[in-house]
Amino acid sequence: MFSKYKKNGAAPAPKAPGKAPATNVTPIPAAAPEAPRKSLMKANASAKTVEVAPGSKDQKRRDRLSEIKLEIHKSLLDNLNLAALENASEQDLRTEINAIASESLEEMGIVLNREERNQLAQELYFEVKGLGPLEPLLQDDSVNDILVNGPKQIFVERSGKLQLTDITFKDERHLLRIIDKIVSAVGRRVDESNPYVDARLADGSRFNAMVPPVAVDGSLVSIRKFKKDKLAIDDLVGFGAFSEEMAAYLQAAVATRLNVIVSGGTGSGKTTTLNALSSFIDNAERILTIEDTAELQLQQTHVGRMESRPPNVEGKGGVSQRDCLRNALRMRPDRIIVGETRGEEVIDMLQAMNTGHDGSMTTIHANNARDAISRLENMVAMAGIEMPLKAIRAQIASAVNLIVQASRLQDGSRRMVSITEITGMEGDVISMQEVFRFQRVGLTPDNKIIGHFTATGVRSHYSERFKLWGYDLPAAIFEPVAAQ
Ligand SMILES: Nc1ncnc2c1ncn2[C@@H]1O[C@H](COP(=O)(O)OP(=O)(O)OP(=O)(O)O)[C@@H](O)[C@H]1O
Ligand SMILES: [Mg+2]
Repeated sequence: MFSKYKKNGAAPAPKAPGKAPATNVTPIPAAAPEAPRKSLMKANASAKTVEVAPGSKDQKRRDRLSEIKLEIHKSLLDNLNLAALENASEQDLRTEINAIASESLEEMGIVLNREERNQLAQELYFEVKGLGPLEPLLQDDSVNDILVNGPKQIFVERSGKLQLTDITFKDERHLLRIIDKIVSAVGRRVDESNPYVDARLADGSRFNAMVPPVAVDGSLVSIRKFKKDKLAIDDLVGFGAFSEEMAAYLQAAVATRLNVIVSGGTGSGKTTTLNALSSFIDNAERILTIEDTAELQLQQTHVGRMESRPPNVEGKGGVSQRDCLRNALRMRPDRIIVGETRGEEVIDMLQAMNTGHDGSMTTIHANNARDAISRLENMVAMAGIEMPLKAIRAQIASAVNLIVQASRLQDGSRRMVSITEITGMEGDVISMQEVFRFQRVGLTPDNKIIGHFTATGVRSHYSERFKLWGYDLPAAIFEPVAAQ
């Protein structure tokens, strides 16, 4: 029934090198001609993954423009009325910038061609109004992450791959000025005594900066771009992030109010998965979301969003995720979604999952389902709760129903590599069973991963529940898929 969804890209498993059948073993002749020695080690793949974006031949001209730009920028700051600039229309501002730029160029005796002039005007506009050299990257929809390692090295992530760009800041001061612009806009400060800061940009992108001397070679900036159109279930299935069968299973799990944890490493797609899963929640339900940086975009009508807040420079006014979560419990939620559980809020999250707010969801930083459980145990212990380990485990086992593992694989693809059900306790150990997984079978010559999604063949622990709630999943969903 589901055969049309079977992945057919999977190639037969490659033969293990050097494992010839035993009968065929021929001794190596004593005087075998010496073949050029091949290193047993694979060439370092990282050289291939760091591709320099085209266009570096223009570097000289760019440097020159950059010098001029800084000069003019200074005179812009002297000549522009910055307070009035706040409300100026884009057109007015551009006209003003062009006028001052022309004047400065004339004074400096510099002649630019039309293209250079346009580029200069655009960059100056970004300096004044936007985030300087980072602005084109922010506007480029194919870029997911922007990573700045000091003024001269800016990487971007496109389709899971890191690329070095030829964009640079003039120097560290230039970079610091842009960082300062971002953080002061959200009422924060970053300097030697507060060397790092987390913030949300006006467009919703997540921003983190760390400045020297803690950042040794110049300021480090990481930006996770905000996607206006979040990836929906269909998109993710289309990208091969998980299979249609898994989607059907997850729909049943979310709709029947199982408590779900999305586990994964940094940038593995946890938030994206959580957001997509939330689409299975009924529109009539009241959902409260709690995040450190508001990223989720739920489609339902009845959504209350909360964002925690760090304390200000005097150490006051902080509102933790735990504070939000405790308050949320008094706000009559049908479901609670915590963007990422990483600390003491774990206690309240587990309690909420156990006491009538089933159907709650969160993400957790872990490498596999077992690891996710250990992380939960550690977080409970770190929160200072004096409870025997067995009791903590019992609490976890009854709170969490499902662990969905997201992963960014070595070829840059993001996939749901496993769906695991928590089935209870066996003695002191939490018992679990994997229901679906991504079966890797090999690598293509250009290092793309070959594999397919498959059920493991176990019967879902929740199949009765699904049936009672009207989600009678076809048995074929749970049948293993053979490699093709
Ligand atoms: N299956 C996918 N295919 C392609 N791109 C994806 C996929 N899943 C996520 N992405 C993209 O990858 C980036 C990281 O995703 P996301 O923010 O969900 O990861 P995360 O695990 O929550 O990261 P963090 O650990 O930083 O919170 C985003 O830009 C997102 O749009
Ligand atoms: Mg996230």
